[in-house]
Amino acid sequence: MIRVLSVFGTRPEAIKMAPVLHALQAEPARFESVVCVSAQHRAMLDQVMSVFGIRANHDLDLMTSGQSPAEIAARVLQHLSPLIRQIRPDVLLVQGDTMTSFAAAFAAYLEKVPSGHVEAGLRTGDRYQPFPEEMNRVLTTRLASLHFAPTTQARDRLLEEGVPPGEVHLTGNTVIDALLRTVRPDYRFHTPALAGLDPARRVVLVTTHRRESFGAPLRSTCAALRELVGRFPDLQVVLPVHPNPEVKRTVESLLCDLPGVTLIHPVDYVEFVHLMARAYLILTDSGGVQEEAPSLGKPVLVLREVTERPEGVAAGTAVVVGTDRERIVAQASELLASPAAYSRMANAVSPYGDGHASERIVAALGERFG
Ligand code: UD1
Ligand code: UDP
Repeated sequence: MIRVLSVFGTRPEAIKMAPVLHALQAEPARFESVVCVSAQHRAMLDQVMSVFGIRANHDLDLMTSGQSPAEIAARVLQHLSPLIRQIRPDVLLVQGDTMTSFAAAFAAYLEKVPSGHVEAGLRTGDRYQPFPEEMNRVLTTRLASLHFAPTTQARDRLLEEGVPPGEVHLTGNTVIDALLRTVRPDYRFHTPALAGLDPARRVVLVTTHRRESFGAPLRSTCAALRELVGRFPDLQVVLPVHPNPEVKRTVESLLCDLPGVTLIHPVDYVEFVHLMARAYLILTDSGGVQEEAPSLGKPVLVLREVTERPEGVAAGTAVVVGTDRERIVAQASELLASPAAYSRMANAVSPYGDGHASERIVAALGERFG
């Protein structure tokens, strides 16, 4: 039996680990799967756990309102280390680039337990963008013993950085496994604001939460949205507001009074996937949404100066627009006004995987630790 301890804490990690946990559970004679959540996120994590039917064996329950990255990292290290000593896993799995991912990989290292990194090898090359995720990824690469790269570009980056080829597996991104198992044609929204969307209106879906955008860049994004709904009366901007207090304060104060803008609480994953499918255009600084949207044939304007997911840009479905008001308005207006420009970007391509990443990850774990 291979004992696998999976540690995660935020919404995107849980979505991307869910298919891996299901694949581990599908082989009970080979794997013992133990789940520990830091609950770096509380409500948004619980939403995902409930959608995917995942139960945590250990819940560190660490979230506090307005926490700093340093605080959450310190608490994960402190609370996870004794648990690793108690569980003695053969391998500890982390996903992505959050404080929980990095701190859990570091805790595993300190206990001399090998760790596996799901979604390894993404880089912008700029240590402050995204912040602090770029550094979390670099450090997690140094700490991990197995690296699951979602794309060839990510794999090549790991090899260039000197990671031994035997430790790197090209798997695809598990976000596509989750997406393909969730999306269906006959879906009906249960959130009243979404169920009541006017079918005649074009939905522009917006999400924003990056720390490097707090302050002026986020205000500038909000100003661009105000301008867009003024210019295009058939638009309905739908913005699930991230609960980070910095984001909530800015977005709610600048956009709450506009009829063309619907601010909603974060919706559960199933609802959100179908909201992406209903959208005409997506504006986001999210990593996961950049990966999901191309599979659904939705053009994405990336509200960042640089992305660690260039595959969508290369495939022609994403454009990096930053947070400058004029640039966002110009790019979005072109897509909204020109059917030709729109259809050039609205290609259903899947640069991030084929929906079988989790099986490949589990096979690699079996090979290495079996
Ligand atoms: C974190 C990750 C980021 C990831 C994002 C996904 C780090 C440094 N950041 O950013 O990489 O893209 O999650 O959403 O690890 N909050 C709630 N309820 C929740 C979740 C958050 O109230 O369910 C509020 C709390 O006040 C919390 C704050 O949001 O303190 C910030 O949460 P945190 O996880 O520290 O940062 P995020 O900005 O969510
Ligand atoms: N998502 C969700 N509900 C929402 C907004 C997003 O379930 O209201 C999902 C989305 O489908 C994607 C993930 O959350 O899989 C992205 O999370 P987020 O943008 O918070 O983090 P990031 O991917 O940037 O780390």
